[in-house]
Amino acid sequence: MSTEAAPAAALKSCCANLYSSEAVRLLVGESFHPGGIELTRRLADLLDLRPGDEVLDIASGPGTSAVELASSLGCSVTGVELSASSRERAEERAAAAGVQDRVRFVAGDAERLPVDAATFDAVICECAFCTFPGKSQAAAEIQRVLRPGGRVGLSDLTRRADLPEELKGLLAWVACVADAGTEEEYMGHLGSAGLVPGVTEDHSGALLELAEQISSRLSVLSLASQLGQLALPQVGWADARAMAASAMAEIRNGNLGYAILVARKP
Ligand SMILES: C[S@@+](CC[C@H](N)C(=O)[O-])C[C@H]1O[C@@H](n2cnc3c(N)ncnc32)[C@H](O)[C@@H]1O
Repeated sequence: MSTEAAPAAALKSCCANLYSSEAVRLLVGESFHPGGIELTRRLADLLDLRPGDEVLDIASGPGTSAVELASSLGCSVTGVELSASSRERAEERAAAAGVQDRVRFVAGDAERLPVDAATFDAVICECAFCTFPGKSQAAAEIQRVLRPGGRVGLSDLTRRADLPEELKGLLAWVACVADAGTEEEYMGHLGSAGLVPGVTEDHSGALLELAEQISSRLSVLSLASQLGQLALPQVGWADARAMAASAMAEIRNGNLGYAILVARKP
C-alpha cells in the first residue's frame, strides 16, 4: 500500500501493531530507537531532568525509557502509547524494576494527548514523531501539556534531501523513514507551536549501528518465519529486507541520519 492510499488511522494502527510484535523486539532489542538507553540518558542530560520531575513519554512503546528515567533519575513518568500490548509489556517492565509507583502507561494518541494542559516539566518523544501523520498537531499538543519553562526532547530520524521512491511506502513510513524530516522541519513544527528552539545534536552513528544490526538479524529471522515460527505483522519479510538495504544506502551516503532536538516552552 502506498502512503497516499493509507489514511492516518491506518498508518497509526500499522505502526502500533508492528512495534508490539515479537519480531520487532528480536530485530531491534528492548529500546525501539537508535542508541538505546545510552541515548535516552543523553536526552535526559540535555533536558536537565531531576528527581521528582513530571515527564511525559509520547509513544512510549515497550516502556524501556520511562522505566529508566524513573529508576535511575527518580522522575515520575507517564507514557502515552497507542498499542495495548506494548502498554502491558511496559507495565510488566515497570513492576519488575519496582518503579510502578512512579510510572504509568495510558492509552492515547500523540495528536490528542489524554492529559491536562500545563502538567509536565518535560516531554520526550523518541523515534516516533517522524511517524505521526499530523506533526503540527502533535507539536501543538506538546506545547499544551508542558508547564511554562518546560522542555521537550525529540530524538528522531532525519533526512537531508529527497528519498528514493522505494523509501516512500507504508513499510518505510512505519519504519520511521518515509516521513522523516530535516532538522529544520522538526524545529519548524516545534517553533510554530510556540516553543523556543534549543540545541540539536547529531547521532547518526547510532542509526548506522542499529541499521546494521537489523539487516543482519533480518536474514536469520526470515528463516524462522519460513518455519512458521515468527510473523512480521502487515509486512512481508522480503519487502522488509529490500527496504532495509535501501535505507542502509541512504544512511551510508549521509542522507538519512538521527538527531536529538531540544526546545523549551517560554
Ligand atoms: C519506533 S517505536 C518507539 C517506541 C519508544 N519511544 C522507544 O524509543 O522505545 C514507535 C512507537 O510509537 C507508537 N505510536 C505510533 N503512533 C502513535 C501515536 N499517534 N500516538 C501514540 N503512540 C504512537 C507505536 O505504537 C510504537 O510503540
